[in-house]
Amino acid sequence: MEKTIEQIEEEALKELEASTNAESIRALSIKYLGRKGLVTRFLRNISNLQQEKRPEAGRKANETKNHLEALFRQSLKQFETVSHQPNGQVDVSLPGRSVRYGSIHPITLITQQICNIFIRLGFDIVEGPEVETDYYNFEALNIPKNHPARDMQDTFYISENVVLRTHTSPTQPRIMEKQRPPVRIIAPGKVYRCDSDLTHTPMFHQIEGLLVDRNVSFGDLKGVLTAFVHQMFDEETSLRFRPSFFPFTEPSAEVDIRCVMCKGDGCRVCSKTGWLEVLGAGMVHPAVFENVEYDTTHYTGFAFGMGVERIAMLKYGIDDIRKFFENDLRFLGQF
Ligand code: FA5
Repeated sequence: MEKTIEQIEEEALKELEASTNAESIRALSIKYLGRKGLVTRFLRNISNLQQEKRPEAGRKANETKNHLEALFRQSLKQFETVSHQPNGQVDVSLPGRSVRYGSIHPITLITQQICNIFIRLGFDIVEGPEVETDYYNFEALNIPKNHPARDMQDTFYISENVVLRTHTSPTQPRIMEKQRPPVRIIAPGKVYRCDSDLTHTPMFHQIEGLLVDRNVSFGDLKGVLTAFVHQMFDEETSLRFRPSFFPFTEPSAEVDIRCVMCKGDGCRVCSKTGWLEVLGAGMVHPAVFENVEYDTTHYTGFAFGMGVERIAMLKYGIDDIRKFFENDLRFLGQF
């Protein structure tokens, strides 16, 4: 018995579904729609049907033919696109994707530059812990119990006697306990304070410097810091020493650099002063030497602690310190 057009279409759809490549679709197209194909033969045989059945059979057969033609064309197109891709995985005709290189964070870059300058000046690099005891962060540095820096408003406490270090200065007593003079070190690292605005972040980086030997004077401190600033920026960049107070240095100074953003005219970065404070410094206080059992009759020393972000802001002309920590790749990719 001859198959009906519905049976033919049903079989064609099943075979189409099972097809896995363009080749088999082409074979199906020939099997059903070719000159001797099943649909073509059905159409041809319509004239053998009874007169009254012919129009309906013709209409159905033409519908099936058009439907299958459309389906075969569509499937063929899909398989031909995929067949550009070896194993259907990679389209080798697509333009290549460029590799995105990472870049060194600007704070790391500036830290490396600062360290290199001090290494050339004869300093060694040491590191201290970020989670620090009250003793090294405050006590050993002659910071009394009632000092405002010890307040919860300024310091992150882990427990009563353990803090996130508020500065890199604890590396001073730590290194002096282990090493007799001469000492000539710098100690870079992260520090933490409850502080946040245009020029302050709760986590920032400092580089501590300490030089202890016989006959070290404030003049040596000025000479070393001036040499550093001239190498870091240029010979024209001026710095100034303002009298200040730190419990662990005497005398003490804050050191400012002429604002490179406004060249000293005053802008929002330098709070309209023309200068940006970049470090605290001074001659090591005898009480600190006594805590590490250094002979204060033989030795003197200077120390300083500089803010790396402030140096980076001046070096790159960045007007908001928070940009360093927003992780915006458009910003970070420029360095
Ligand atoms: C100190 O931290 C002292 N330990 C520095 C020191 C070391 C003095 C050795 C004497 C001898 P001060 O709090 O001023 O000092 O901080 C030093 C520098 O860190 C500042 O000049 C500033 O550049 C930077 N700084 C301070 N607070 C922040 C902050 N919240 N965000 C970014 N930078 C800061």
